[in-house]
Amino acid sequence: MLTLIGVWDIVQTKHSLRRNYPIMAHIRFMLEKIRPEIRQYFLESETDGTPFNRAKRSIVYQRAKGELDKRPFGTQQNIYGNQFEWINHSLVPVPAAQHDLRVMVGGPDCKQPYSLSLFNVSAMSFGSLSANAIRALNKGAKLGNFAHDTGEGGFSRYHKEFGGDIIWELGSGYFGCRNDDGTFSAERFAKEAANPQVKMIEIKLSQGAKPGHGGVLPGPKVTAEISDARGVPIGVDCVSPASHSMFSTPLELIQFVAQLRELSGGKPVGFKLCIGHPWEFMGICKAMLESGTRPDFIVIDGTEGGTGAAPLEFVDHIGTPMREGLIFAHNCLVGAGLRDTIRLGVAGRIITGFDMALVLALGADWCNAARGFMFALGCVQAQACHTDHCPSGVATQNAWRQHAVVVPDKAERVRRLHDNTLAALADLVGAAGLAHPKDLTPMHLLKRVSAYEVKTFAELYTFLGERELLAGTGHATYAQSWAIAHARRFTVQPEVKATADAQGQAA
Ligand SMILES: Cc1cc2nc3c(=O)[nH]c(=O)nc-3n(C[C@H](O)[C@H](O)[C@H](O)COP(=O)(O)O)c2cc1C
Repeated sequence: MLTLIGVWDIVQTKHSLRRNYPIMAHIRFMLEKIRPEIRQYFLESETDGTPFNRAKRSIVYQRAKGELDKRPFGTQQNIYGNQFEWINHSLVPVPAAQHDLRVMVGGPDCKQPYSLSLFNVSAMSFGSLSANAIRALNKGAKLGNFAHDTGEGGFSRYHKEFGGDIIWELGSGYFGCRNDDGTFSAERFAKEAANPQVKMIEIKLSQGAKPGHGGVLPGPKVTAEISDARGVPIGVDCVSPASHSMFSTPLELIQFVAQLRELSGGKPVGFKLCIGHPWEFMGICKAMLESGTRPDFIVIDGTEGGTGAAPLEFVDHIGTPMREGLIFAHNCLVGAGLRDTIRLGVAGRIITGFDMALVLALGADWCNAARGFMFALGCVQAQACHTDHCPSGVATQNAWRQHAVVVPDKAERVRRLHDNTLAALADLVGAAGLAHPKDLTPMHLLKRVSAYEVKTFAELYTFLGERELLAGTGHATYAQSWAIAHARRFTVQPEVKATADAQGQAA
């Protein structure tokens, strides 16, 4: 009997865990089924300290599988606890907006603007994810008409099989468009960027889980396929330096943006970063003002973001959390009069319609999800991405393990997660009496800050007015950093900082 079950587990195509762990996977499923009862005894918390708690993961699994995603009986949230957040409904709700929610990306210098879905697959490289995972993500993106970010590991052949829209990410290793010495190759870039599948180009400045940290893919892991995708020699350590060789000042970064836009035939070009020192981002804004050149978009990643592997200190304590980073970037662009043509994307544990509504209200134009889409591929958050022993075959290069990811089935789940999450967002926005998510504002969102006190997000955070930074803002922290930010250098000289500190205190 067990043999028969085992064989059936291996040949079926729906469950990754059963394919990789025949028979044993059933024990896990059985335990999951009786989990509510077990919880009574072990007081397991729904906010259990893992990056994504069970409640959130289960909603993603249900939406990806197309199962009923409703909840019985009532909320399990601690609504009188500090940190509880909600959106108010309206007495005149409007019918849910259509679910194909999009935003146009492309400023005045862009010749091929792109109509981007409000929900897309965030950057994850072939190398950190398996070939089958990349195939399923891209096929899902094709089926659902949304975008799939390559991550910094290059635009591999697995990204090309199904023709889903691509955001091509260039990290400091310039994989897929580099010379043999690791420097940027304009010729190779132009050739690859001309592929009609490439809709936007994203320069990766930093990643929330490990900002300011480079990376090394050890030689033994540089297989023929990785070598082909990245344009690096087989078996040799593949290094992503901590910083780019194409620019070392804000103005040079903006010139690089303009160069890539030119070389790509006018496709939207932008950059992704986790916000660090405020004067550095402000320096980039000053470079935009000084040069008259703007990126078409900026993506903000939060320190809570995911990664295949990073040191603990970087994962936990370096970089600005997503919400503060987003509000800061939005404020800088508004305050410098740059916001009208630059779109803002955001990533950082965004997984439900409410998560999306919250960041759209705070200033984002669209959202990306990385780990949410990993769940749709069958990830069980085993947190073994760095060991090559991923049990669900999603984050591994091991051929046997990745056969668990059956591409047609998982691609359909990826599509469903996208569609059902946007449908949930549209429903929520309609209940708030709004026609479109772009109508959300910080006034619509509330947070309990103590047992007796609730504040709107408009009260909780600072929001700058149009061109307020240029006119001279009264917000001391913004004024202080704006004073020392410079278009021609990222770093701040000590004497400049001392003067600004004094000015800031005066302000
Ligand atoms: C396995 C994995 C690999 C990633 N690789 C990249 C990458 O190559 N480039 C990048 O900019 N971000 C990378 N990220 C970060 C994500 O794109 C995203 O910004 C971050 O995880 C926050 O989104 P999430 O909370 O939805 O996962 C990676 C994340 C994960 C989990």
